[in-house]
Amino acid sequence: MDKKFETAVNRENSLERKSDKKYLSNNYPVSLDKKIINSSIADLNFETPYEICEAIKKRANIRSFSYTYISDDSLSAIQSWYKNEHKSDINLTEIKLVHGTVNAMYQIVQSFTNVGDSILIQTPIYEPFARCILHNDRKIVENKLIFENNTYKIDFKKLEASIKENNIKLFLFCNPHNPGGKNWNNEDLKEIIDICLRNNVILFSDEVHSDLDYSNNFTTLLKYKEIHKLLIIANSPNKPFNLGGLKGSYLVIKNPNLKKIIDQNYEKNSLTSPNVFLQPAIIEAYTNPNVKKWLDDLKDIMKSNFEFFKSETSEMKFEIFESESSYLPWIKFNYEITDEEFKQACFKENLIFNFYDNFYGAERKWFRLNTGCPREEIELTIKILKNIFEK
Ligand SMILES: Cc1ncc(COP(=O)(O)O)c(C=O)c1O
Repeated sequence: MDKKFETAVNRENSLERKSDKKYLSNNYPVSLDKKIINSSIADLNFETPYEICEAIKKRANIRSFSYTYISDDSLSAIQSWYKNEHKSDINLTEIKLVHGTVNAMYQIVQSFTNVGDSILIQTPIYEPFARCILHNDRKIVENKLIFENNTYKIDFKKLEASIKENNIKLFLFCNPHNPGGKNWNNEDLKEIIDICLRNNVILFSDEVHSDLDYSNNFTTLLKYKEIHKLLIIANSPNKPFNLGGLKGSYLVIKNPNLKKIIDQNYEKNSLTSPNVFLQPAIIEAYTNPNVKKWLDDLKDIMKSNFEFFKSETSEMKFEIFESESSYLPWIKFNYEITDEEFKQACFKENLIFNFYDNFYGAERKWFRLNTGCPREEIELTIKILKNIFEK
């Protein structure tokens, strides 16, 4: 095991929702007397790469934290990342640095739909996909994913029928899909593209887990030129490098007309300068070869942690989604115990998960684990799960 992935970060007093003791005890029925395992929030329990931390410290040493502007160096770092990692060419003018991916979804909903309009999502899904629709007084149209052979399949006929029936103009798509970590394949993407083109639907593709693709089969929708006129990509360095608290993400929008509409909506909401630490962090994350090596090592750990969990629980009555990206295994328990009993039993053991009701449209008995942590934490989690289910 790689040494840098053997220890957790000490962040009990960090004001981070993942780990801050005060926050956890105020929000969950857990006890402060023993170790709390918070497997719920999608972040890593490892230190952010040294070089990124140093870049942030160097910026802090200027001792001034005033308003920022967006530099070409930051956009070039994103451009080179896409060239190297995703074999995709983007121009600097096609990139928009934004204030978080979830916030970007809210902006996109406001930019391209009106109150009362219907918006398409595929469920189960990361809850903010639904929240951004409901908070903006739009209607959710769900295309339910089909769970088969430990992965999700799309019913394309139903998908297109729903688009036509509900006069859909916007599809909020997630690739890799959360929950599950499914990388949609070439055939899936081509079907989706054809459907969107036939029905003139704007396709927003949240690809924030794509840089944690340990199966080497993730494809960004940017690769398909035919959809560029309707496409908005969102990505960020947050998931791979644990930078969610910097609240920085970016959009890639090839069509200048779409970009203009989005720019206007951001202006309307007065979302302007990015966080002062974001640009130094993004440049280091995307251009320093040591950080790239760190990420490659992390992906190996993600894969081996997932394999470890599967093999250690192979005798248990679990159905485990065949994850291809990220560190968030999606698991169904086939035991008599109810969801509420399971939840309470976990809390009693100081173990916190995202349960089925943390996702929009998820079925009962599913929960999501976080394996972005030292092996020791996974071992402890498995021990607790065995106690809960098999005692
Ligand atoms: C699919 C997906 N999109 C977006 C986010 C959050 O992104 P941000 O922190 O940039 O708003 C998450 C976090 O878990 C996620 O899983």
